[in-house]
Amino acid sequence: MSVRRSVVLGCGSYLPENTVTNDDLATRVDTSDEWIVQRTGIRERHIAAEGEFTSHLGLKAARAALDHAGVDAQSIDLIVLATSTPDNTFPATAVTIQAALGITHGAAFDVQAVCSGFVFALTTADALLKAGQGTRALVIGAETFSRILDWEDRTTCVLFGDGAGAVVLELQDVPGDMSTDHGILTCHLRSDGNHKDKLYVDGGPSSTQTTGHLRMKGKEVFKHAVGMVTDVIMDAFEASDTCAEDLDWFVPHQANRRIIDASARKLGIAPEKVVITVDLHGNTSAASIPLALDTAVRDGRVKRGDLLMLEAMGGGFTWGSVLLRW
Ligand code: UT7
Repeated sequence: MSVRRSVVLGCGSYLPENTVTNDDLATRVDTSDEWIVQRTGIRERHIAAEGEFTSHLGLKAARAALDHAGVDAQSIDLIVLATSTPDNTFPATAVTIQAALGITHGAAFDVQAVCSGFVFALTTADALLKAGQGTRALVIGAETFSRILDWEDRTTCVLFGDGAGAVVLELQDVPGDMSTDHGILTCHLRSDGNHKDKLYVDGGPSSTQTTGHLRMKGKEVFKHAVGMVTDVIMDAFEASDTCAEDLDWFVPHQANRRIIDASARKLGIAPEKVVITVDLHGNTSAASIPLALDTAVRDGRVKRGDLLMLEAMGGGFTWGSVLLRW
C-alpha cells in the first residue's frame, strides 16, 4: 500500500568567512588548543561578521539547498527555521528568509529547541506536509551563538560557533516499505524541562528584557547526553524494525566528539559510519546536523538510497532522532 513521505531533494550549508582557532581563543581566555581538542574535538569555529545576522546565514544555506535540489524558491510552500538566536525577538527569522526568497504564499515560522532544533524542525515540517499544508518545505537550522556567548567565560565560549544548514523536502508517494522507501521514515522527539538550569540563557524579553548569555553546567549536560541520545535512537530502530548494522550513516548533533564517539560505541555503530565535522565549526546548535549532512553529501559519502540516523540533544533538555533514507 502506497504512503506519503517527505523525501529530501537537496541540502546546503553556509559558514561565515571569519575563522577563529583555538590558539586565537587562548589569547583571550585562559585555555589552550590541547585542552579544547582533547575535551571536545573542536579545532576552529566560524564567527559571523558585524552586521551578518542569523537570517543572512540561513538565506545562504537555503539558496544552496534549493540549488542542490534543482527547484525554484516559488515552489516552496513551507519554511521551518530552527534557531535560538533569531534576528529579532519577533517576527520569526523564517519570514525574513521567506521575503528574501521572494515567496509570498504558504507559511514560514521558527521553532526553538536549541541544539535539537533541526530534528524538531524536520519533524514539524514532515508532519505539516503529511497534513496537507503543502508539497515542498525548506527546513533550515541557522544560528549566531557568538552573539549570546560570554566571551570571558572559558567554560562555554570555546565550544560554540555560527553557521547554517538547510534541506528541501518534497512530499512523494512511495511504496510504503520501510526497508526501501526514500524519505523520512520515523521521528522521535522528547523534552524534560526539569533540566532547564543545566543549559540556558540568563535573559529574555519577558524576564529581564535583555538577550542574556549562555550558561551551562557542562559536566551535567555530558552526563545525560549519551543516555538520552541512545534512547531516542533505540525508539527509532524499534519503530522502523531496523538496527545499527542497517545504518549507512550516523549524522549526530556536532557538540562534542566524546559524546558522539560514546553514543556510537553504545549503539554499536561502526566509527567509519559516523559523520564528524565538529572539529571545523564547533557546536553550531540547530545548524550542526545540516552542516554535517551537507558535508557528507557533497564529498560523496552519502548516496541516494543510504539509510541515515540524525540525532540531537540540547537545552531544555530536548532530544530527538530522525531516521531517513536519502
Ligand atoms: O548540545 C549540548 C551542548 N552542550 C554540550 O555538549 C556540552 C557537554 N559537556 C561537555 O562537552 C564537557 O563537559 C565540557 C567540554 C564542557 C567540559 O569538559 P569536562 O571534561 O566535563 O571538564 P570539566 O568541566 O570537568 O572541567 C575540567 C577542568 C576544570 O578545572 P579544575 O576545576 O579541574 O581545575 C575547568 O575549570 O577544566 C577547566 N576548564 C578549562 N580549562 C581550559 C574548563 N573550561 C576550560 C577551558 N580551557 N576552555
